[in-house]
Amino acid sequence: MVSSVIPVQPFDLVIFGATGDLAHRKILPSLFRRLAVHQIPDTARIIGAARSKMTRAEFRKQTAAALEEFVAPALLKPELVEQFLNTIDYVTVDAAGHDGWATLAKKLGDRPDHIRAFYLSVAPGLFGVIAEKLAAAGIATPSSRIVVEKPLGKDLASARALNAQLSRHFEEEQIYRIDHYLGKETVQNLMAIRFANALFEPLWNARFIDHVQITVAENIGVAGRGEYYDQSGAMRDMVQNHMMQLLCLTAMEPPAHFDPNFVRDEKLKVIRSLDPLKPSDTVRGQYRANGSALSYLADVKDPASRTESFVAIRAHISNWRWSGTPFYMRTGKKLSARLSEIAVVFRDPPHSIFPKVEDLRGNALIIRLQPNEGITLRMTIKDPGPGGMRLTEVPLDMTFADALGGDGGMPEAYERLIMDVIRGDQTLFMRGDEVEAAWAWTDPIIQAWADSGNKPQQYDPGSAGPIDAYKLTGSDGHLWREIAT
Ligand code: BG6
Repeated sequence: MVSSVIPVQPFDLVIFGATGDLAHRKILPSLFRRLAVHQIPDTARIIGAARSKMTRAEFRKQTAAALEEFVAPALLKPELVEQFLNTIDYVTVDAAGHDGWATLAKKLGDRPDHIRAFYLSVAPGLFGVIAEKLAAAGIATPSSRIVVEKPLGKDLASARALNAQLSRHFEEEQIYRIDHYLGKETVQNLMAIRFANALFEPLWNARFIDHVQITVAENIGVAGRGEYYDQSGAMRDMVQNHMMQLLCLTAMEPPAHFDPNFVRDEKLKVIRSLDPLKPSDTVRGQYRANGSALSYLADVKDPASRTESFVAIRAHISNWRWSGTPFYMRTGKKLSARLSEIAVVFRDPPHSIFPKVEDLRGNALIIRLQPNEGITLRMTIKDPGPGGMRLTEVPLDMTFADALGGDGGMPEAYERLIMDVIRGDQTLFMRGDEVEAAWAWTDPIIQAWADSGNKPQQYDPGSAGPIDAYKLTGSDGHLWREIAT
């Protein structure tokens, strides 16, 4: 029952930073998986571009090794690998210098019937430089696309500067800002659940929804990425982008059409309706050591760091639909499980005719992003058997992989997003003004934390975060859901 695959138009995709980690772990394997389901036309080319001096044969060898490591062995049929490697080419390019640009231009040549896309899998400091070089070398045609990924700035000012750099050479319709959370199957399903069913939308407002909890919990720490992470913290790394996107899709008004700008206009309105955050609406945490596992401070090698590895937020959206319904968000490293979900908790019925049962929590719709993508509707029913009218709660549970069959493998976020770049569909990409509005909301609180000089609260690895996170919801009479799979 998994939908059939429609091949995309032939394309030339240039991956800057092709020898790097993201290209090896995500981009090349995702492209391979799309080729394996026959979505990639025969004449497509994937051209690696990086500073390393390497031949095409050497880069193909590197690509084969990446596939070996990051693609399920069952998919790696020799004829498919061979076919994929035939699409691969390589050019040595010095992004900031002169070398290689003419060779790249020559290689791309003139193939007007092929979509041209540039994936900048490089340090963000190079985005503007590469955009400029592409224009100067005459490689960026009016229809070509440029793909960039977070961090898209570290505050409003830097995000504005980056947008300005990109828009000097590319129109907004050519710029694809990836937030890989938008490529996750369940995130798109959130739109389908809301806008393709008559069931939920009439209840989707403050009259019927008590509160919303958005959780993105990870069980890994920051080891290996400490240098980057310590400059960001959970707020910049997860909230400003992934979590705010989830919030927007949960809270936005139905767009008039499923069209990139209609959808993005509605998301932007949500961000602009958010009340400014007060320090009392936020809790910051840092994981401590546990046995032989290092603390956050040891992982980032800075005993004085005040960067948060956990953050919990109470947000309010001041508009007609949501006034009075808090949206709680929390995310953190080294928590008890890897779990991402959106829980929409409904209010109690206005009048109860049954004896009160203490532990009943009422209706909730839980949209699970990972693991086991799916949805659960928590229902109240009668406890079976004689002995009076006793109520209990049961989950109506649907895991998409079970319900939809197929080989059980949902496409990875990057597979969908890269194919959308080729198709020219920007629905699942962030527009420049959205990114700026999100920074405009997070900047003041990041500044307020810095000014306060307060340290994040310590929490135990394997827990649900610092104790104050419980107080944040508890003070409103709410309880976080368990972080467990
Ligand atoms: C990235 C963050 O954007 O998302 C990481 O930089 C985080 O810190 C990752 O681990 C989580 O993504 P996923 O898809 O594993 O939930």
